[in-house]
Parts: sequence; C-alpha cells; structure tokens
Amino acid sequence: MRDFRIAPSLLSADFACLGQEVRDVIAAGADIIHFDVMDNHYVPNLTVGPLVCEAIRPHTKAPIDVHLMVKPVDSLVPMFAKAGADIITFHPEASEHIDRTLGLIKESGCKAGLVFNPGTSLSYLDHVMDKIDMVLIMSVNPGFGGQSFIPHALEKVRAARQRIDEYTAKHGGEIWLEVDGGVKVDNIAAVAAAGADTFVAGSAIYGQPDYQAVIAAMRAELAKVA
Ligand code: DX5
Ligand code: ZN
Repeated sequence: MRDFRIAPSLLSADFACLGQEVRDVIAAGADIIHFDVMDNHYVPNLTVGPLVCEAIRPHTKAPIDVHLMVKPVDSLVPMFAKAGADIITFHPEASEHIDRTLGLIKESGCKAGLVFNPGTSLSYLDHVMDKIDMVLIMSVNPGFGGQSFIPHALEKVRAARQRIDEYTAKHGGEIWLEVDGGVKVDNIAAVAAAGADTFVAGSAIYGQPDYQAVIAAMRAELAKVA
C-alpha cells in the first residue's frame, strides 16, 4: 500500500497571515506545505521568494515543498535551501543544464524534483533518475490557482508511475509522484488510482472554511483506493 501525502498550496491561503495558515493546515491533517514561486517571466504570475519561505519555516516541522516556476533556476536554489526548503522542484524547460541544477539542489541538502507541464515530455527523466526524489505532474498549466484539472494528465501520471516503479525496482530508493492543479475531493481518488502518492491542493483546501473537513474527505476518498 502506498503512503498518501496531502500538500496544501499556500497560493490560495490568506497572504496577510501565512504563519497561521501554515499552522492551521498542518493541525488539520496536512503532511507537506507546497510553496509556489512564480517570477512573472517563466509564468505570468508573481508570488513569493526565499524571505517568505524563511518567515514560515518556524511555523511548522512539516516539509516545505518549493515549486519553482522561475527562469533561470540555479541562483534561487541556494537561497531557498538556506530559507528552509526541504524539497525543491523546477521545470526542465527553465534550466539550461538539468543535471547541473538537480546536482545543485542535492548539494544544498534538499530533495530534488522535476515538474512536467501538460505539454512537456517525460523523456526529460531519461538520464537523471538517479538524482530525482520527486516527479511532479502538472494537471493545469502553471501560473494560477483555481484552474480545472486537465483529464489527460491521468495518462501521464500512469506513465510516470511506471517509470518510477521500473527504476526503483532495479536501483532501490524512493521517488515520490506528486500531482498539482485542480485536485479536489471528487477527483483525488482517480489521481491516486493513476499512481500519484502526493497531492497538491490549493483552492480545494484554502477555499473552504473548514480545512480539517476537506482533508478528512480527501483521506476518505484515498482510503477507497488503497
Ligand atoms: C499552479 C500552482 C499550484 C496551484 C494549485 O501553477 O503550481 O500549486 O496553487 O492550485 P489549485 O489546487 O487551486 O489548482
Ligand atoms: Zn505548485
């Protein structure tokens, strides 16, 4: 049976009280804090940087999963590592040297992952599986919270699951498979059935008054899959 992890995205939280929002979702049963970094260049939106990551760090022991939607990538890696990130993922199209960027993340003491937009091929994984701790499949085009789940992302999740299982069967280790975008109570079971183990949810959790109720409903759906 797979371990399932729920990762609320702070993008939909109240930015005027982020520390409280972090504590509240973890108290409500979340496992990971998903931290969306957008640069108004690689994606049209502009969000938060290492200073904000550092500010929320004392509010939880849960892993902070930094999703870099930025170009270029490398200079921000040590800054986020220093700011307390546990996991750093980036989009392969945004890095000139994917292997080097992955190495930089690992050297900085963080777990590393690649993020795949709906139109990005999984072939970027071909030669770097040994440096990967997480594969993140986008089920929306990155840039904004609250978009609808793109159904064909499920095929890609299945394909990524197969790659990960083949690799870990041969070489050992653990690689998480995360899905980001439009994940809600009514589709989380389908996403898990396709092979995901880690679920980002922004508007589905922070858009509701009772975070605990949403997370419990998500876990109840996941229990049907396991
Ligand atoms: C989108 C971000 C997501 C976003 C998800 O570019 O990477 O993490 O916050 O938000 P929802 O769950 O509302 O689609
Ligand atoms: Zn994200």
